[in-house]
Amino acid sequence: MSTWELETEIESYYERGEERERLTRNARGRLEFARMQDLLRRKLPGAALDVLDVGGATGAHAKWLAEDGHRVTLIDPVASQVAVAAELPGVTAVVGDARELPWDDASFDAVLLMGPLYHLTDRKYRIQAIAEAARCTRPGGVVAAATINRTAGWTDWLIFQANGIDRKISAEDGLRVLREGELRYFDQDIFTTAYLSHPGEVASEFADAGLPGAAQYAVQGFPGYIPELERLIDEPRVREHLMDGLRIIEAEPSLLGASNHLLTVANV
Ligand SMILES: C[S@@+](CC[C@H](N)C(=O)[O-])C[C@H]1O[C@@H](n2cnc3c(N)ncnc32)[C@H](O)[C@@H]1O
Repeated sequence: MSTWELETEIESYYERGEERERLTRNARGRLEFARMQDLLRRKLPGAALDVLDVGGATGAHAKWLAEDGHRVTLIDPVASQVAVAAELPGVTAVVGDARELPWDDASFDAVLLMGPLYHLTDRKYRIQAIAEAARCTRPGGVVAAATINRTAGWTDWLIFQANGIDRKISAEDGLRVLREGELRYFDQDIFTTAYLSHPGEVASEFADAGLPGAAQYAVQGFPGYIPELERLIDEPRVREHLMDGLRIIEAEPSLLGASNHLLTVANV
């Protein structure tokens, strides 16, 4: 059992259950899901692997990974989410924290951190979570982590304004997040306490956790902000063109931060 406590605000946000629909509810979520699947399928080091999904919530990724033939273990601090994930065929789910993984060294071929890093606002805890992931990964395996880019909150503020939606965030607060990264003032309307990072910060945190030279990929890329995405994403021809183009630009350094999410992948 982990000795770490999740911040109450983060826990109550996830207990509300709204995140369950995040990857299917709108075009942005569906693009994130399709791109994460596409990237992970290409970056995982083989078939029928032991995969640990840290911060796996109700198992959105654990489900398809198990269906792909991997042996999936999920860990998340929110018990109500873990109970949902535990029902998935082929998935073992436990309650716990990314900063203290209850497994021996080199227990998994791949450890995914698809959520914990952006909820750890203190750099030393993000490094600790990455180091724990690396410790539990076998040589030849990978650690992959999702982060939210620094520009995402500010861009969302502009999009909400453009759509006439008042999200109760002042322009001043929006700019503070853009400067400092820490998101900690919401009335739980949109998201919860988080840290939005620049790609270079994530790479340096990986290096400080003992994983230098990690590769980085823009997940949705700047096309994820196209207002017409909702109409376009389900047109097969457009979707294929979007996915093909994103594969071409995904690792272009000058474009990494111009994306809602970033995926950082290191070989162990
Ligand atoms: C936005 S959800 C992401 C869920 C899923 N992995 C995905 O990619 O859609 C973030 C998840 O991180 C979990 N989380 C937050 N802090 C954590 C920590 N310190 N250790 C492990 N998981 C944490 C939350 O409980 C939540 O389930």
